[in-house]
Amino acid sequence: MAGKLQDQVAIITGGASGIGEAIALLFAAEGAHIAIADLNEESGAQTVSAVKALDRDAIFVRTDTSSEEQCEALASATVEHFGAINIQVGAAGISYSQYNSDNPTSAQLLADPEASFLINADLNAWQRVLDVNLTGVMLSARAAAKRMIESDSGGNIINLASIMAKVSRPGVAPYCVSKAGVWMLTKCLAMELVGYNIRVNAIGPGFIETPMTAPMRAFESGSDWAMGLTPMGRFGTAEEVAKTALFLASDDSSFYTGKLLHPDGGVLTD
Ligand SMILES: NC(=O)c1ccc[n+]([C@@H]2O[C@H](COP(=O)([O-])OP(=O)(O)OC[C@H]3O[C@@H](n4cnc5c(N)ncnc54)[C@H](O)[C@@H]3O)[C@@H](O)[C@H]2O)c1
Repeated sequence: MAGKLQDQVAIITGGASGIGEAIALLFAAEGAHIAIADLNEESGAQTVSAVKALDRDAIFVRTDTSSEEQCEALASATVEHFGAINIQVGAAGISYSQYNSDNPTSAQLLADPEASFLINADLNAWQRVLDVNLTGVMLSARAAAKRMIESDSGGNIINLASIMAKVSRPGVAPYCVSKAGVWMLTKCLAMELVGYNIRVNAIGPGFIETPMTAPMRAFESGSDWAMGLTPMGRFGTAEEVAKTALFLASDDSSFYTGKLLHPDGGVLTD
């Protein structure tokens, strides 16, 4: 039986880990071919192998999504290899400037929290989070959109925002601001691309069990805070977020554009 994304081509930034990896595997299981774009070559190669094991084609393109040149090279390499781009997922992200998904540490939580308050924050740290989480999502989305427009094929763009687009907390302002930016970016792109039959939506997950939340989960106070906000009383899985991405990438959501959907266990009720 044909999958929901049969023979479509999807770029997944951040596809080497966590939510991006789960999206790559679910999309492949639904028939898509996958280009993984990530900084982490080793984990990226593992995702490529896992996609190929599902009998779908896959490539890895080492990409720093905060670089316009590298996002353009990624889109070109994908079209060269597969002939098209049908779906673009922007899942590359960082929780703070020094974050490394390969080795998530609790450094920021252990540090003096006031050092990460906006009035004290290092400008480079602020800039790096915005470069990756907001500008990187814009650059990778528009590189893919240009190819979709050139081929007159329509398409789907899905950006990873967060509940933190709407929830504020002391010490994580760059992350919150970047995710609120992704929400508005999604709405603006949706309006600009609607005439090209390109739908643009965002996902704003709650607290999900991935390397990104490992430092938070390592501390009772971090876990307690997250679970205090989550009526379902548990962390979500990357696979649960991937199911939201599949909905947005498939015709099941054919009348959705400019939306932000929240797989979050009930954190946000509006
Ligand atoms: N885990 C959560 O609870 C949660 C909640 C809400 C939103 N999100 C968002 O979902 C997305 C995925 O997060 P995750 O939890 O899977 O984290 P993760 O750390 O497991 O995966 C992030 C991936 O992005 C890659 N990456 C980081 N910077 C990059 C760059 N400049 N260029 C290319 N790749 C880069 C990393 O190498 C990694 O493979 C992020 O945007 C994150 O902010 C996560």
